[in-house]
Amino acid sequence: MARVPWQALLRAASRARARAHAPYSGFAVGAAVLVRGRIHAACNVENSSYPLSVCAERNAVAMAVAAGAKSIDAVVVLGGHKRPAPPCGGCRQVLAEFGAAGTPVLYASPKGQRVQTTLGELLPAAFGRSDLAKTRKSKVRAGK
Ligand code: THU
Repeated sequence: MARVPWQALLRAASRARARAHAPYSGFAVGAAVLVRGRIHAACNVENSSYPLSVCAERNAVAMAVAAGAKSIDAVVVLGGHKRPAPPCGGCRQVLAEFGAAGTPVLYASPKGQRVQTTLGELLPAAFGRSDLAKTRKSKVRAGK
């Protein structure tokens, strides 16, 4: 992957974070994903029915996919108080659907602390589409 435009990704995540709908947790998060040079950003959107709340990363992935993305080249997550908030487990799985083990991830706090890592480090031994291949084929053969 060519040079990652971290500053532009951080700016996009910061703008999205400013629009977070987080009246219940008070925890605003912004995320930005890079897709072939284009940036797609989103914030967390909570709901009065708490479990329906959606994380910033998942919303950013949805924005990218709706714009035609098939894969993601880099990820920035912006949030946290005492430390940069790492992506939650569910978001790691959703990001892994569109990234590779080597896809760079930067998570940062609004105060400026940063942690750079990769999807593979965040979610080792990820479950993925190749794990489904056999099941799908045998289902097709069985006519299900
Ligand atoms: N949140 C995210 O947006 N991303 C994460 O990876 C962790 C948590 C949001 C969900 C909820 O709106 C708030 O942060 C508190 O959990």
